[in-house]
Amino acid sequence: MPENSSLENLLTETRSFPPSPEFAAQANAQAGMYDEARADRLAFWAKQANELLTWKTPFTQTLDWSDAPVARWFADGTLNAAYNAVDRHVEAGRGDRVAIHFEGEPGDTRTVTYADLQREVSRAANAIAALGVESGDRVVIYLPMLVESVVAMLACARLGAPHSVVFGGFSADALRSRIADAEAKLVITADGGYRRGAPSALKPAVDEALEPRDGEAPTTVEHVLVVKRTGQDTAWTEGRDIWWDDALESADVRHEPVWVEAEHPLYILHTSGTTGKPKGILHTTGGYLTQAAFTHKNVFDLKAETDVYWCTADIGWVTGHSYVVYGPLINGATQLIYEGTPDTPHRGRWWELVEKYKVSILYTAPTAIRTCMKWGEDIPAKFDLSSLRVLGSVGEPINPEAWMWYRRVIGGDKAPIVDTWWQTETGAIMISPLPGVTATKPGSAQVPLPGIVADVVDDEAHSVPNGGGGYLVLSEPWPSMLRGIWGDLERYKDTYWSRFPGIYFAGDGAKKDDDGDIWLLGRVDDVMNVSGHRLSTTEIESALVSHEIVAEAAVVGAADETTGQAVVAFVILRGEHADRAATEDGSTEVQTALRNHVAKEIGPIAKPRRILVVPELPKTRSGKIMRRLLRDVAENRTVGDATTLADSSVMDLISAGLAGPAASSED
Ligand code: PRX
Repeated sequence: MPENSSLENLLTETRSFPPSPEFAAQANAQAGMYDEARADRLAFWAKQANELLTWKTPFTQTLDWSDAPVARWFADGTLNAAYNAVDRHVEAGRGDRVAIHFEGEPGDTRTVTYADLQREVSRAANAIAALGVESGDRVVIYLPMLVESVVAMLACARLGAPHSVVFGGFSADALRSRIADAEAKLVITADGGYRRGAPSALKPAVDEALEPRDGEAPTTVEHVLVVKRTGQDTAWTEGRDIWWDDALESADVRHEPVWVEAEHPLYILHTSGTTGKPKGILHTTGGYLTQAAFTHKNVFDLKAETDVYWCTADIGWVTGHSYVVYGPLINGATQLIYEGTPDTPHRGRWWELVEKYKVSILYTAPTAIRTCMKWGEDIPAKFDLSSLRVLGSVGEPINPEAWMWYRRVIGGDKAPIVDTWWQTETGAIMISPLPGVTATKPGSAQVPLPGIVADVVDDEAHSVPNGGGGYLVLSEPWPSMLRGIWGDLERYKDTYWSRFPGIYFAGDGAKKDDDGDIWLLGRVDDVMNVSGHRLSTTEIESALVSHEIVAEAAVVGAADETTGQAVVAFVILRGEHADRAATEDGSTEVQTALRNHVAKEIGPIAKPRRILVVPELPKTRSGKIMRRLLRDVAENRTVGDATTLADSSVMDLISAGLAGPAASSED
């Protein structure tokens, strides 16, 4: 099972932070919710769906599990996601409420009310429809963090056209394969965005992704809508490319939402799995929105009239879908969206924003917290953070030291921390303390939310006793669960439902402590977690071997203090390249070439931190690479038991070779 520093504290962690009476007295979440959901889980979710959403046609059936593992929730109800996120707030007289405070990296700002959002989303929906997009057609969104990004997603939802957002940091090749997988009709992008103080182009990647390629089917994309953000020079394909502003300018501000069935696809979002090809995770409308709204309201204790909420995730990830777009807007929240990096133009930028907008709920990732710890607590200390009253964490295990720092330095020793475990596949938070109810514990996500049934099991699917470790599973269907992998039902069944028949296998290792609280220990499969981003070892290996000088490659995630894990690659080079790499210059050349190649194939986030040139890879007799041994090397540990290797001298060869110049590492 992967190492994690929280493991060391597991048996000794005695710190516990019960909610203050003041917080508990005003909390949205109530202890009774657990019993209520346990008594009748389906009735509990039906109640949430009715209370939190506005339905065009009410549903009469809560869950249809007859086609398991494909669930149908609230299936005979109809609704529209954008109507729920925007219009109904305006209709209820809350049109003047700020939906989004936007802060660009250069410091430009924009305030968008719910009424503004309604006009803009309606305009965008009309403009997109005018380009021939109809309910069911897919739209790829490749944008930085802008107001337009939220508008684009909602405009698609308004039309019943599933969006497929591709993170702006992914390469042209990654974009190309996602466009092809979704068979998208339209791409929405921008000329560029601001990154670390300078404009960074985006549109060239779209142009490259849409170029015809020998042996590949012609693209299904008919148009590209381009938001003007940086004003930089942009290549243009007449007839295909259209400026967003031009398209919206002439569009009507009224648009009748397309009412869809609850199981109508809302979006596809690709995520890394254990094989080379990213999976298009499919989410539908009614159940997804119900759980996104329920968790956002109760896990963050949202008070829509008074809170200023800020989730630092990019819309390119699921956290941006559920907790920037759908959850907060369905709940009528006021939120902050920030375009840039935390250290531009200075390392206090985030805390300056918290002070400026009086942010009261902050949701971010452990890697960001650890980075801020490294920068020093004197930086946040310069700002007034007293508005913060709830702090969230997501994406990877948060080590107790970082948790304590977050609580003390950012939360002023009073704001409850919610460590939220979930996945792209689960659609919404599944395991987390409830603020005002749960006594929190540094490093543990603790308890499944009301209405969620999770467990830690051994190899035979038996529940482990308190104090035991095993695999995290979800034993009952939940409203926001994925409905499949786009275009590949078999892969869906195989990936999640075959390890333990009839129950969902999350791919995470977990432990139960003596109180029965759940501690997440990291992935047990070939998925890595770098700065809270999911990367597949196989995907990076495929990228490496697609380079002409590489014969074989093996990738592991090595423990890293700041990013959680770091990508370390072991490569066998072809013929003379191996000799060349054994020289100082040659080694640097090879490292640079391969790192750039991975950035081009997948994106800069997937670049290996270190590339080690080796003569052999450790393999079992059946040819399986023993990554465990490579991880020992990457983490500078004594190499573990190598007796099952086909050739047990391989590890000696690797260790001996690494003493030479080819062992030098980058950054
Ligand atoms: O390993 C778990 C880790 O992130 C994985 C899901 O990644 P992704 O689909 O990209 O979604 C990230 C944001 C929801 C999980 O399988 N993970 C996520 N949250 C936590 C976590 N590990 C430990 N503690 C968490 N709170």
